[in-house]
Amino acid sequence: MKILNRNRIHIYYKYFLKIVAIILLFPFYSCEKIKNKNKKVLSDSAMVSSAHSISSKVGIDILKQGGNAFDAAVAIQFALSVVYPNAGNIGGGGFVVYRLNSGEIGSLDFREKAPFLSSKNMYLYNKNDSILINYELKNNDLNEMIVDVNKSKIGHLASGIPGTVDGMVKLHEKFGILDWEKLLNPSIKLARDGYQLTTAQSNSLNSTKDLFLKVNKKSIPFVKNNRWKTNDTLVQSNLSLTLNRIKNQKRDGFYSGITAKLLLKEMNKGKGIFTQGDLDKYSSIWRKPIVGYYKNHKIISMGPPSSGGIALVQLLKGIEKYNIKSYGFNSLKTINVMAELESRVYADRATHLGDPDFYKVPVEKLINSNYLENKFKNINPLKKTPSNEIKEGSITYNESNETTHFSVVDKFGNAVSITTTLNGSYGSKVVVGGAGFLLNNEMDDFSVKPGFPNMFGLIGGKANSIEPGKRMLSSMTPTIIEKNNNLFMVLGTPGGSTIITSVFQTILNVIDYEMTMQEAVDAKKIHHQWVPDILYVEKNSISNETKKQLISIGHKINERGTIGRMDCILINSDNKLEGGSDKRGDNIAIGY
Ligand code: DON
Repeated sequence: MKILNRNRIHIYYKYFLKIVAIILLFPFYSCEKIKNKNKKVLSDSAMVSSAHSISSKVGIDILKQGGNAFDAAVAIQFALSVVYPNAGNIGGGGFVVYRLNSGEIGSLDFREKAPFLSSKNMYLYNKNDSILINYELKNNDLNEMIVDVNKSKIGHLASGIPGTVDGMVKLHEKFGILDWEKLLNPSIKLARDGYQLTTAQSNSLNSTKDLFLKVNKKSIPFVKNNRWKTNDTLVQSNLSLTLNRIKNQKRDGFYSGITAKLLLKEMNKGKGIFTQGDLDKYSSIWRKPIVGYYKNHKIISMGPPSSGGIALVQLLKGIEKYNIKSYGFNSLKTINVMAELESRVYADRATHLGDPDFYKVPVEKLINSNYLENKFKNINPLKKTPSNEIKEGSITYNESNETTHFSVVDKFGNAVSITTTLNGSYGSKVVVGGAGFLLNNEMDDFSVKPGFPNMFGLIGGKANSIEPGKRMLSSMTPTIIEKNNNLFMVLGTPGGSTIITSVFQTILNVIDYEMTMQEAVDAKKIHHQWVPDILYVEKNSISNETKKQLISIGHKINERGTIGRMDCILINSDNKLEGGSDKRGDNIAIGY
């Protein structure tokens, strides 16, 4: 009995010691974990930040082989089309903003275009339920028409003419220094041999299975009988062959020959409306970026057909006069000022922005200081204006209208900021038979009927109505910032309508709240887009007290899982490159 008791005491004593050790060591253990999670990715020479570890590695390898930021960007874009099929693409489009080490800036628009057989009312139904392609409505008919809420989002009619391959060829021809073939090799291999899925990717493929089956009558690599599991290998043989044709024939490997034939065959099968003429005529365009200033920083961002640059500059100019640092991060006053500015900016977006090749976008006026001062003059940090009392600014027209982002800075000091998209996750869900790539559902970014919300709740009118050959309005905001004439930050994100506001807040986080790049990315975000009149906040982004105060001045608050998925690079005060990649996704920054 005595022996038993002594044993027991010994066991209790051992447990006691263990518990004491855990209590004493826990703070160090948890700190270490947090430190690792938020560990700064620093480099003296070059940096890549993208949505997947493999695409970031592909970019870094190209830089190590002597390529510049443009070579790396092209290789990353093609790698993402394999390892990040939600948004990486050759069947979609996007925008490049760049800054050369000489200080020269520019942008390339490789946004998709509406097919020539598209028309303004193509997603509207009449009462007999027949779709109205090529049917011009009399104005007074319009209100009677019903919007088919699926046709612009899922299936063959949802796609615009892809711009990615033309864009990458143009980017490489102007700035690349490595051979084109070298930039395609990694993605060809990844598609042919396969790569291992992350947990997020296997979950995402499992949850999209039904939609994939609905629009694809053939077998596609994204669907298998059993559920996908973490580390399963995804092989995309047909995509590998298509990438190989692009490697050998550049633009012609996609817009003509075998790939084009397969694409048009797919369209015919699914009652889509692409023609060879659409493919022949697709051309990406060099455009002047939008330039604005915020607290002595030069903001360089994408102009129309993206709304991103104009909206970002409007927001930054609007917030400049408020001392948000003294208000505090995500405090009542800071959030309300942001939301008030955002409502007014998104009202302008809905009316004044569209494809400048089809609609006279009053760019200079929209970012003019006097116009903005007048537009924002009634904002009171402690008062919420109901959205129905906010209207777009009045402009006199006498002037010539699941996404992913990656940022690259090379050892020469060149910077490339690219946001690229299929629109929704996996775009239209249509995989081109025999060619293995997903088609976008970018047609939903048009205003399919005046005032009718798209999948991000954004509304629009004439400026963004569907017209053959026109580009749909975007929110993508690839951005580069200079400080004292030097490169300072490269940033961007996916997130539909929240792209603009996420980029806006990330800039404020660095410049006003003096956060590191990673902290600025990690920081919780909020979003208001005028219509609907709702303040979206990320979970745990505001205190209960602030929440109550916001509600008391009239905000309707909607809590969302995540906002933004940033990939950014900062040149910090030690002149080091600091990566910031979003832990809301699988994003990774790598430097060398
Ligand atoms: O161009 C646009 O604004 C949209 N197509 C972007 C879509 C997007 O960011 C989806 N990702 N979450």
